[in-house]
Amino acid sequence: MASADVDRELETLIRARYPIIYIVSWEEKRVEDALRAIAQARGKKIFFWTITQGMVLNPNHRDNATRDPLAALDFVMDSRDQALFVLKDYHAFITDVTVTRRLRDLTVALKTSYKTLLILSPILKLPTELEKEVTVVDYGLPDIEDLDRILESIIQAVKDNPQVNTQLTEFERDQILKAAQGLTASEAENVLAKSLVEKQRFDVDVILSEKEQIIRKSGILEYYPFNEQIGDVGGLDLLKDWMEKRTVAFTEKARDFGLPAPRGVLLLGVQGCGKSLSAKAIGALWRLPLLRLDVGRIFGGIVGQSEENMRKAIRVAESVSPAILWIDELEKGFSGTQSSAQSDGGTTSRVFGTFLSWMQDKKAATFVVATSNDVKSLPPELLRKGRFDEIFFIDLPSEAERREIFRIHLKKRRRNPDDFDLDALAAATPGFSGAEIEAAVVEALYDAFDETRDLTTEDILKAARNTFPLSMTMRERIEELREWAATRARPASSEKSEDMLTIAEELMLAKLGHTRTGARPVEASGDGQERPAAEPPADPVERVPVLPATELPGSGT
Ligand SMILES: Nc1ncnc2c1ncn2[C@@H]1O[C@H](COP(=O)(O)OP(=O)(O)OP(=O)(O)O)[C@@H](O)[C@H]1O
Ligand SMILES: [Mg+2]
Repeated sequence: MASADVDRELETLIRARYPIIYIVSWEEKRVEDALRAIAQARGKKIFFWTITQGMVLNPNHRDNATRDPLAALDFVMDSRDQALFVLKDYHAFITDVTVTRRLRDLTVALKTSYKTLLILSPILKLPTELEKEVTVVDYGLPDIEDLDRILESIIQAVKDNPQVNTQLTEFERDQILKAAQGLTASEAENVLAKSLVEKQRFDVDVILSEKEQIIRKSGILEYYPFNEQIGDVGGLDLLKDWMEKRTVAFTEKARDFGLPAPRGVLLLGVQGCGKSLSAKAIGALWRLPLLRLDVGRIFGGIVGQSEENMRKAIRVAESVSPAILWIDELEKGFSGTQSSAQSDGGTTSRVFGTFLSWMQDKKAATFVVATSNDVKSLPPELLRKGRFDEIFFIDLPSEAERREIFRIHLKKRRRNPDDFDLDALAAATPGFSGAEIEAAVVEALYDAFDETRDLTTEDILKAARNTFPLSMTMRERIEELREWAATRARPASSEKSEDMLTIAEELMLAKLGHTRTGARPVEASGDGQERPAAEPPADPVERVPVLPATELPGSGT
């Protein structure tokens, strides 16, 4: 929300006699100014409390009697003034049982008074008992207009200094302001000044590097440089078409044309088949910053901080938008939200709720790419229409796709793919994921290097024979996933991958060395006979371990 909107909301809440308002902001100074203005406009006094100064009207005074957090609340209770009482950094005391109780008593008293209690803190920490009594207001970061005012005030301050050049074309000014988005007012002031000192002018790169720092410092989001290109993704033609069509989606032109900004996409599918890879490729294709949200880290750490972490991640992502927010392995965080009330006091559900409502109303150009390989553990609300623009299902690669993936990975290892029998390789690897194809190429490279000769098709075939693909141990799960996806998701590829029985059979043949070059999937026979399930190879050199069922961080213990 732009700061002017927040100020208006605050004023409304105060006029409507909301008893306790919790303002979440890193910008104490800015909020203080806004509150002073509101107090003045409404003819109210304004008190500020800190643990060191106590409750005072004048910032230069000190009142030892009210320095105690409880004494501060008593002061509010007993005061006969029409006033705003602003408690700074009170989050440190709010979970104390006596404080919590006293605050609840206060709400009743304040509702019928002209007094408002405001808690101002960079961190949201709210005991469950107070959730209903307290209204939370997120005081967002400065918007473009706020930043423009900051920039202008700096220009005015140094304009007579011949050492610095503050001339900016309209385009440059725009770039500077865009780069500064996501910084707090004081951070923006500092970095603009730093740029003048270092470069004697306003420099976009100085500002951008500061921003990267901030994302890193947030500790929850990770900034991804563009490493993977769309050409590094084998197969998945339908998904790639979809992504390419939306390359221009965040431009002014698209907006003028009436196109809504895309919200997000969920990539669902079999492990190791390119979900994370595709997410990274979207960032490169759209040339937007890619921010990876570590769901595990949201729930890690101190109890009660999870919600704050989620809000913070959203705030940072929005502030650097247009950007892509990549939530990898969604199920790790949001599985079991239904049972969360018993297992973790509802934390998971609340964090999830925060995320869902943001997905629903988000206005900032933040595109969400979520990936998951387990639909069963995802809350159904998430899969409902309207949350994501599209749910794509990424299956095991088909034979033709495997050929393409071999080609990509051979090229990545500086080999000419045309020197290899790609048809034979593709035919020998039914049920292999992209990751397993890559692993086979790498293993073969080791073998060849060991024997000081160059890589051959036979090396890779051997490595493949020694691999027992994960899809075989996870057969049932993949079948379930396919069944689910058939009616609820859009296929990421126009190619159909072999069915699991065919894969088992062909794999057996391949293990015995009978690859049928270019073989097409065998039709499932209707003879009703049981088919032998694929046995693991007698001597599996490298068995991929079966992953344990997804864990829910922060649950249980
Ligand atoms: N379609 C593909 N084309 C090219 N390479 C692929 C493909 N799929 C997987 N790979 C290779 O395998 C690696 C792992 O794939 P990725 O991380 O995208 O799998 P994932 O679907 O996210 O799996 P998980 O469910 O385990 O997270 C990639 O970095 C890439 O090298
Ligand atoms: Mg992944």
